[in-house]
Amino acid sequence: NSVENHFSLPPTDTEPVVLKVPFVIGVAGGTASGKTTVCNMIISQLQNQRVVLISQEAFYHPLTAKQLEKVHDYNFDHPDAFNTELLLSCMENLKHGRAINIPNYDFKEHRSIEPPRVVNPSDVIILDGILILHDPRIRDLMNMKIFVDSDSDVRLARRIRRDTLERNRNIQNVLDQYAKHVKPGFEDFIHPTKKYADVIIPRGADNDVAIDLIVQHIRTKLGQHDLCKIYSNVFVIHSTFQI
Ligand code: CTP
Repeated sequence: NSVENHFSLPPTDTEPVVLKVPFVIGVAGGTASGKTTVCNMIISQLQNQRVVLISQEAFYHPLTAKQLEKVHDYNFDHPDAFNTELLLSCMENLKHGRAINIPNYDFKEHRSIEPPRVVNPSDVIILDGILILHDPRIRDLMNMKIFVDSDSDVRLARRIRRDTLERNRNIQNVLDQYAKHVKPGFEDFIHPTKKYADVIIPRGADNDVAIDLIVQHIRTKLGQHDLCKIYSNVFVIHSTFQI
């Protein structure tokens, strides 16, 4: 680990205002690999921290009327399906301690619905999504990168169950979309991002041991990360960590 500190001394009678720089964790993996469950398991073990989960799905571009007419041709498993610029600007605001509104995406409507979700600045921000490790600018924001690696047959079975029960799809559509876009998208764009992960979790959310180890690591890093405080305009300790 390397830690670099830059100090400037405060006036003696000023009480510093402390803003923590958030610790950002990225969780990627194929469709229905258990990303959300892994995130929730991590969150439930980080009780003394303010933790927020932001899903990449909130940043899907809304479909135009023309695209909606041919929704079965639309590729939701391609990096261009996401508004990454919006995600970057949201992260920039959170990093500077400002609350943000993020779109509330509806998989039945293929667009965001009202009201948007308010996200407050937090100690830990978990970003999850199939392609969250794809863009280097998003990866650069992350202190820890995780890839949830579940078998593709297990994922397909879960996807069929979930899409028919929760996303208003029929089995034939799910299988067609899987063959046309989801499987090629995994092979061409999602699986190649595994190489950026610091930790790969085999068997996804069934892997309690991996999740315990990850949580222990996050707790240790958060202890160190607390050094990284911005005392508004008065006292600055700037730290750079390499994990
Ligand atoms: N998708 C879709 N229709 C949309 C938008 C996205 O069918 N309007 C699909 C894409 O094909 C993509 C998937 O949604 O493959 C992404 O969601 P997924 O990662 O499967 O959802 P999670 O619940 O986050 O998965 P996990 O079980 O890993 O938590």
